[in-house]
Order: sequence, then C-alpha cells, then structure tokens
Amino acid sequence: MCGIVGYTGTREARDILIDGLKKLEYRGYDSAGVALQQDGELVITKAAGSVADLEKKLVNNSKNINMGIGHTRWATHGRPSDQNAPPHSSASGEISIVHNGIIENHRFLRKWLTEEAGYTFRSETDTEVLVHLIEEHYTGDLLDAVLEAISGVEGSYALVAASSREPGRLVCARQDSPLIVGFGEGENFIASDIPALLAHTRKTCILEDGEFASLTAESVEIYDAEGRLLEKETFEVTWDIEAAEKNGYKHFMLKEIMEQPVAIRETMRQRIDAAKGKVDPTELDFSSEELARLEKIYIVACGTAYHAGLIGKVVVEQLAGIPVEVDVASEFRYRNPMLGENQLAIVISQSGETADTLAALRLARSKGVKVLAITNVVGSTVSREADQVLFTWAGPEIAVASTKAYLTQLIVLYLVALYLGEGRGTLEPGQSAELVEGLLALPEQLKAILSEENTAKLCAYCDHLSGWGSAFFIGRNLDYPVAMEGALKLKEISYIHAEACAAGELKHGPLALIEEGLPVIALVTQEAVLDKTLSNIQEINARGGAVFAITQEGFDDVGRQASSVFTIPPVNDILAPVLSVVPTQLIAYYAALARGSSVDKPRNLAKSVTVE
Ligand code: F6R
Repeated sequence: MCGIVGYTGTREARDILIDGLKKLEYRGYDSAGVALQQDGELVITKAAGSVADLEKKLVNNSKNINMGIGHTRWATHGRPSDQNAPPHSSASGEISIVHNGIIENHRFLRKWLTEEAGYTFRSETDTEVLVHLIEEHYTGDLLDAVLEAISGVEGSYALVAASSREPGRLVCARQDSPLIVGFGEGENFIASDIPALLAHTRKTCILEDGEFASLTAESVEIYDAEGRLLEKETFEVTWDIEAAEKNGYKHFMLKEIMEQPVAIRETMRQRIDAAKGKVDPTELDFSSEELARLEKIYIVACGTAYHAGLIGKVVVEQLAGIPVEVDVASEFRYRNPMLGENQLAIVISQSGETADTLAALRLARSKGVKVLAITNVVGSTVSREADQVLFTWAGPEIAVASTKAYLTQLIVLYLVALYLGEGRGTLEPGQSAELVEGLLALPEQLKAILSEENTAKLCAYCDHLSGWGSAFFIGRNLDYPVAMEGALKLKEISYIHAEACAAGELKHGPLALIEEGLPVIALVTQEAVLDKTLSNIQEINARGGAVFAITQEGFDDVGRQASSVFTIPPVNDILAPVLSVVPTQLIAYYAALARGSSVDKPRNLAKSVTVE
C-alpha cells in the first residue's frame, strides 16, 4: 500500500511531490524518495523513515525543477532500508520508476535479466526488475518501452516512469493498483490516491486495469494495452481531504472492511498454483523430514489475531493431523508451556510489535522451537526475529479494530494447513484441489456479501441491537471462534457488552441471562452441527431471545427458527469463517455508528500494543 505522486509542469516539483506524499502518509509507510529531473539527469533522493526526513534532505536542492516522481514505501519485497527505498533507477541512470504492487514473476525476470541480459541488481525489490526491463526495451520512446516491458510482467502494479532523455514526460501503467490522473492548467499530476491531488486540482480521471498514460505539462494521453489511444471521461472530485483519505467512506474501518476482497486476493497471490490445485507458499522452507516429525504446534497471539489462531487450530488439525494448542500470548509466556523437540510455534500479529506476542516468540526460540510468524508489517520486530515469515498483504490497517488484517490471517492459516497437509500426506484425494478452488472463489463471494442490499439489511438490524446494553454471539465448531471475534468487535467499538458462548454451553449458565428481545447473533454455517445449533436457537426462542442468524445459502431450516437471517453464499464449511465474520464486522460498525461512538479510535484502545 505504497503511495505514488508524479508531477510535470512549470512549478517547483519538489514542493508538489513532498506535499502530495505527506497527504498519503495516513496510509502508513517505512521510507520515501523522489526522482527529480535536474540538468538533463534524474536525481534521486531517498530516506528511510518519514516524508519529513526526506524533505530535510531536499532543503538545499536547486530550484526550478519542474518534473519529478515520488513514492512512500510500505515494504513488500525486501526489508525497509535505503537500498530498497524508492525510486529505483536503471543501470544507465536514465530511467527512474516508482511502483506499487507485487510483480509475481519477479524471480523469473530477475534471473533472466541477470543471466541473459547482464544486469546487476542493487536492491531486493521487485520494482528494480521493472526498471531494468523498461531500459532493456527502451529505444527512444518511454511509452513503447513501458508497453513492451509490461507485456512480460505478471502481477499487480501502479507504475510511473520517467526518462532523462524525454524531459517533462511521465509514463504510467496500471493493473490492480490504483492510479489517478489530475488535470491542471499547463501542468498535470499522477497519484495513487486522490488526497495527493486535491490541493492542485479536482479534475481527475481514474486509470483502469490494463491502461497506460503519457503525461506532459500540456497533455494527457491514455492508451489501452495494445497502445491504442482512448477517449476517457474526467470527473470532478467533490470530497474534502478527510473523505478522500477514506476513499469517500465515513470511516477507515468501513473502508478496510470493503477492501477485504482485494486484501485476501493479494494474500493468496503467488502462493497458489491454481493449475495444479495446490498451495505453493514459496516463502516456507521446511524439509519433508521436519514436517513428518512435527508432533505439536502452538499458535500464540492476542485479541483478534488469537481468534484467527483458534480457526487455524481446527483447520491444521483437520488437514495436517497435527495437534495444535492455541494460547493468548500474555498467558503463554507465564504458564511454562511444555516446549520441546519436534514442535513448531506460529505467532500471529498484524503489527508485528505486540509485546506479549514478541515475548512468546522469544520464549519459544529460547527453547529451541522454530517460530513461523504471520504478520502484516515487513520489517516489524516479529518478522525479523522469527525463523520463517508469511506476510499478510492486507496493506496498512488504520482503524484500531482489525478487520482486513484478520481475514488475511485466516487465509494464511489455510495456506499453512494445506502446505503442512500436503507435506505430511494427510490430505484426502482431491481435498487440496477442492479447497484451493474454494479459496480462489472467496474474493467474489465477499464482494457479494458486501453489496449495498446486504449492508442496508445489517444497518437496519443494528437499529434494534444498538438499543441494548448487552448481546450474545453463539456458534459451534468453527462458528465458535467467529462468534468470539464478532463479540470482541461489537464491544470494542460500540461499547455494547457482548459475550461469545459455545452454543452447547448455553444451558450450563448463560441461558439465565436470556430475556425478552435480547439480541443473540447465531453463527450457523457448519453442517455437521447444524441440528445441534438449531436446538440451541430453540432454547433461546423459548426464553424470548431475538436470534439473528448468519448462515449459508441452502441451510433453510435456520430461516424457520431464527427471527432474522443473513445468508452468506454456499461455501465449503471449513472456509466459511472467512465469509461469516464479515456480517459481524458490519454489525459492530453500524451499531457503533448508531450509538455515536468513535469508530476508528475506540476509547482506551491503541492500534499497536507495545507494552505488557
Ligand atoms: C481488535 C484488535 C486487537 C489486536 C491485538 C493484537 O480489533 O485489533 O485485538 O488483534 O491487539 O494486535 P496485533 O495483531 O498487532 O499483534
């Protein structure tokens, strides 16, 4: 989730780029840089850290520079460092680029560029692959070179390139990563997000996937992938800067909920071989002996990440046949866990900085247990100290309540479970292909869940819910951790007290609290325990509780028992948690909205808990 800004015109490019990059700071980043066209050269300045650090480095820069490109980096390939910071230049220094996204075939391209074309790489980034590839195809026209280079690239990109041989020209390309052209008078802009443009222009045009643009101070030309000139409509942005940062959404949390189809698709990208019907997380490196010897896995995390771990336990036990214990990190570190040989610890942390999770990681490693980290932040302490890392490519999560990071953690856990099952030979014939197909279908299914009709339905339900001071979430099997996550989210942002209860436990105590109208959200997506959960719903009905059921299409009996029903698309039961949690996120959001609480920054909570 990096930020891109490009400018060509007559004003001071440095000031426009710095100002634009600052407007993108809310997205999170670890380094920044600019390439400015100066005396026939592209001069690059980079800084690890903030845009302000970059600005300081540019103070003595000469004036009257009217073209440049800038970037704030959220590390993906390669840790945050000066070397890996953007922009990247070609071997001759004549071409510089900034790039957002992930080049899937970067290993292949890097090998080809090194071995066949004689390039030397200076960074670990996939972006550097692109700039060499553009130079390789450059014969005097930057657009032609970019078109040619991109035709050999697989993956996602928002790319802006400049060549010192074509002063005043920027060439851009987009696939699965946003780029917006801003039109000025005698100047033009390009940016990955609208806030970077608003100080200068409101006249914009969004590039679509597969489109290219060539910008000079006087002209904007947009092309399709075959290089044919397109007629594109412009649109006037009417949002203020705050709304623009949230992409028009009222809160970051809602924006992040809506980003989930893309986030999980990015997390699966490059890690699934659809043709073979197998997962292929190339970052994982366990020998087959190591996998065969595994006797136990500990999953350790806090809060929402712990709930992901609870799902991971069921999935790993089912698919890989390894017993899994899941611990809250603050408990794990003080309970003298029986760490020993033939074990693996998996720590899950969005931020990668949570103190208790880090302590658990260190404890496991001190006892000789290998640690696999699942985290969203490249360069985080957890990612640096773990033996192996799988990143969740959710992009920066700004709302305190975790949503898209959680969903991507689930996806990574499915990938790990399938990888372990494959390596240990515990999967049933056809099971891998069936689950891979199911995983790949999830982004579209999520989009359907997030439709306007569905959100309106959940919003209407929250009119009832928000009047109550207390609510229950129930579920069995994989539905139970989803109920826990739903309850946590509701209490966290709406301040309604919410309790998750394994549905079978109701009559061992909690049933005493059920009264006329009390909201009970029932997760009912697991066929194996369907009848059991239906009986629990009846127990609640008999005491006047109002059950809102979240179920799968085809589970028709649920509709007959519950007061209201929300249906997710039909899905393999094991994958259902990825879909069923989303309505609970929206319920928490709309309940918080109805109660007027501070959605993105709930009271007493912080995004990253770096103290015990
Ligand atoms: C709840 C939430 C928290 C975090 C927890 C762990 O919405 O976000 O419960 O999940 O504080 O944080 P990370 O994942 O950064 O270790």
